[in-house]
Order: sequence, then structure tokens, then C-alpha cells
Amino acid sequence: MSAEFLTKLFGLDGQSAIVIGGTGVLGGAMCDGLAAAGAFVIVAGRSRERGEKRVQKIREAGGKADFIEVDATSRDSLLSLRDQTVKMCTNIDMLINCMGVNSAIPYEEIPDDDWHRVIDGNLTATHLACQIFAPQMAQQPNGGSILNIGSVTAHLPLSRVFAYSASKAAVVNLTKNLAREYATKNVRVNVLCPGFFPAEQNRAILDKERVENIMRQTPMARFGEPEELVGAVLLLLSREAGRFITGSAVYVDGGFTAMRF
Ligand SMILES: NC(=O)c1ccc[n+]([C@@H]2O[C@H](COP(=O)([O-])OP(=O)(O)OC[C@H]3O[C@@H](n4cnc5c(N)ncnc54)[C@H](O)[C@@H]3O)[C@@H](O)[C@H]2O)c1
Repeated sequence: MSAEFLTKLFGLDGQSAIVIGGTGVLGGAMCDGLAAAGAFVIVAGRSRERGEKRVQKIREAGGKADFIEVDATSRDSLLSLRDQTVKMCTNIDMLINCMGVNSAIPYEEIPDDDWHRVIDGNLTATHLACQIFAPQMAQQPNGGSILNIGSVTAHLPLSRVFAYSASKAAVVNLTKNLAREYATKNVRVNVLCPGFFPAEQNRAILDKERVENIMRQTPMARFGEPEELVGAVLLLLSREAGRFITGSAVYVDGGFTAMRF
């Protein structure tokens, strides 16, 4: 009885999910979680090698997955991702925009091209993906669900990561605006804001001093593990469990945004 109840709430059998940035550390864990819940997962990203490794891992665990190469800063590349996915699975039930880039440079020294790289890689890429996939979902019989990835820096800006913090604050704002826009079109749009999880894009910014500061300001006094995001991902994306949730920003951060010592 309880397994049946949980399957009804969170089971994703027969549904498809695209994870852009499924090639990365957090996106990879999300791909694994979605596949374990029964979804057919399209691992999408720029690195074919990493994407294919993730697909192989999912298949070895008994899940269903495929890789599609995409550059989320390119409209044409995203349109091609949409068209290829529609050919493979008819409905695109879920999309996670989990790509991201970072940079840590003193404010007065930020070169224009680095500013644009971070704003484009986080905000513009998320906007383009939403603009392409939300209307596609709205015309599907079962609608769809989009999960953008923000950050605790959307709420509390982080020193030396100016463009990144600004881009993530804008991703949260865009998510809420799109949630309103699509609320009656059967498309839900939410944003997950992780705390600190060591990964590729933040390796360079996690120096000794910053790690000490983060630990001091994280009530749980540790980094997150990528798989600790999966529960929130399933809740926000699930057609049944999340059906009245839209425009929400959910923080998974060990309490980082909850308080100041
Ligand atoms: N790791 C953390 O502590 C943390 C905290 C808050 C938010 N985030 C966010 O989570 C998301 C995932 O980050 P991560 O920590 O797993 O980093 P990561 O570097 O491991 O993964 C990011 C992935 O996105 C891919 N990518 C980057 N630009 C792309 C593009 N234009 N098109 C397609 N793919 C692209 C990269 O190749 C990489 O595989 C990012 O949006 C990041 O800002 C991470």
C-alpha cells in the first residue's frame, strides 16, 4: 500500500526528462534520480564523453537514457535538442536547466567578455531553453514541468562572484514570471537553489578562506552531496506530488540562507 502510494506521487514511468547540464556533477545526480524514478532521461550537454558515461551508468543501473549534444547558449542548438527529443519520445514532460558557468574576479577587473560569458551561460541559456520548451510543453496533452537551477547566491550575493550572483538572482526572478505566464497552460516552472556542493564550476572559488566562511555560516556545517538534491527535484517535477507548486524557489543548502551567526 505505501509503495503504491509513493509510486503514484513520485513515480515517473512513461515520462521523459531532459537535463541540460546532465554532464555535470549536480545534473548527473539529478539524471540518476529521475531515471531511478522511472523516467526516460535525455542527458544533454556540451561534453559527449561525460554525457555518454552518464548514460552508460544509468543503463547499467537498469534505467533508460540517451545523450544529445547541446550548447544552451545557442538558440539553434536548443531547437535541435527539442526536435530530436520530440522525435524520440513525443512528449517532453520535464526539463531541468542545470547548465552553468562561474567566475571569481574582483569587481573592477571583470573583463566585458567574462561578464557576458557568465550572464549568457546562466541567465540567457535558461531564458532560451524556457522560451523554446515551455510553449512545446503547453501544447502537449499532459503539459510539462520546468525546473531552473538558481543558487543561494540569488538570495545572498557572494563576494567575488558578481556576474554569477546577479545571473542567479535573475534566474529566480525569471522563473517566477514564467510560472505566472504558464500557470493556466499546464506548465509549472520552479527553481531549485542549491547551497554549496563541490563541483567543476566552483572548484576555483572554493579556496581555504571561503570554505571556512561557508562552514561557519552553514548551520549543518558541511557541503552538500549531489544526491541530496534528488528529493526536492522529484517533488518539484512530479506531475502528481508537485501539481500545485509553481513559481517556488526551494533552497537545499543545509540552512545557509536560514540564518546569520
Ligand atoms: N555546485 C554547487 O555548489 C552549486 C550551487 C548552486 C548552484 N549550482 C548550479 O548548479 C548547476 C550545475 O552546476 P554543477 O555544480 O553541477 O557544475 P558542473 O560544472 O559540474 O556542471 C555544469 C555542466 O553544465 C555544462 N554546461 C555549461 N555550459 C553549458 C552550455 N552552454 N550548454 C550545455 N551545457 C553546458 C558543463 O559542461 C557541465 O557539464 C549550475 O547552474 C550551477 O550554477 C551549483
